[in-house]
Amino acid sequence: MGKIKKIAINTGGGDAPGLNAVIRAVVVSALNRGIECFGIRDGYNGLMKPEDYPEGGLILLTRAAVRGITHLGGTILGTTNKGNPAKYPTMGPDGKMYEKDRTGELVECFRKNKIDALVAVGGDGSLGIANILSEKGLPTIGVPKTIDNDLDKTVVTFGFDTAVSFATECLDRLHSTADAHRRVMVVEVMGRYAGWIALNAGVSGNADAILIPEIPYDINKVAAALRERPKRGKHYAIVVVAEGAKPLGGGLSVVSKELGRAEKLGGAGERLAKELEPLVGKECRTVVLGHLLRGGSPTTFDRLISLRFGAAAVRALEEGQSGVMVALDPPTVRYVPLKEATSRMKIVPLDCDTIATARDLGISFGD
Ligand code: F6P
Repeated sequence: MGKIKKIAINTGGGDAPGLNAVIRAVVVSALNRGIECFGIRDGYNGLMKPEDYPEGGLILLTRAAVRGITHLGGTILGTTNKGNPAKYPTMGPDGKMYEKDRTGELVECFRKNKIDALVAVGGDGSLGIANILSEKGLPTIGVPKTIDNDLDKTVVTFGFDTAVSFATECLDRLHSTADAHRRVMVVEVMGRYAGWIALNAGVSGNADAILIPEIPYDINKVAAALRERPKRGKHYAIVVVAEGAKPLGGGLSVVSKELGRAEKLGGAGERLAKELEPLVGKECRTVVLGHLLRGGSPTTFDRLISLRFGAAAVRALEEGQSGVMVALDPPTVRYVPLKEATSRMKIVPLDCDTIATARDLGISFGD
């Protein structure tokens, strides 16, 4: 790899608190090495569909452009979880839509714009694309983002701590209203096919039951656990359910599935509340935290790891690395092959001590 003069950064998939901190760290670290930095709008759209951006699909990122953004939620570059370039929705000659691999074209766009390297900030989907780009010759470093914490080979992704902290605060608030009305509050949280957010927030926020994708639940066991509560003087209950939780022998609660994007999950909470109500004999109400978990300022923990990840990505490029993801490995960061990080999802291990802790505290998993 020759000397890097110009790099690009993009943010892909669902946003997560800390994206702007990563962007600032990449830009300042690059500029301090005499490297010019551009931001690609909305994943890869700014490069692949420049006609949609009259103001430019590539933004020159100066120091001024990234000043004062470390603590801001969202992403100044925009993001998208539609139009995966490896599975781009395209109309065939028969008028039907199919998925087309456009990653070769995308690498060409980088060459045309004289971009020497890419810092791709994303979750498993976006980093899978980043891996393809690096295999096709574009020097690429990945930065692990997702509130779901389901990326392998890193102790944690940025955004997760903020999501769990907010979910816990919501659970704290729900205890008093649930108590006042002697209700069961079912709280649905994001996390896709992993139960990290539900588990960590549920234990921290004193839930009575936590239902996660890793442990299919038996509705009768959940109800039986909740019926025990009044015997111990507690006349309300808090149930945390991951959006990807499934009843024993049942399926995921899917809202929709479109070409070029991951299936949309939702409704696990409502389904559970409906089934629980007659079994528990109490009013069961649902709160869906959903996108609230993705908003707001990153916690100090997320800000710090985002800044560390961004700076480490530029150091990796300077060292001539490519096809790797920055990973948190306390007390330091290290680099792991993108291929390894994206080849399997990191789900909650059933033998982890957080699950043991929950069980010790009398929290039901419905199993
Ligand atoms: O991956 C992050 C995440 O927030 C998941 O927890 C959730 O299933 C998904 O994105 C929702 O994405 P959106 O609603 O933006 O399509």
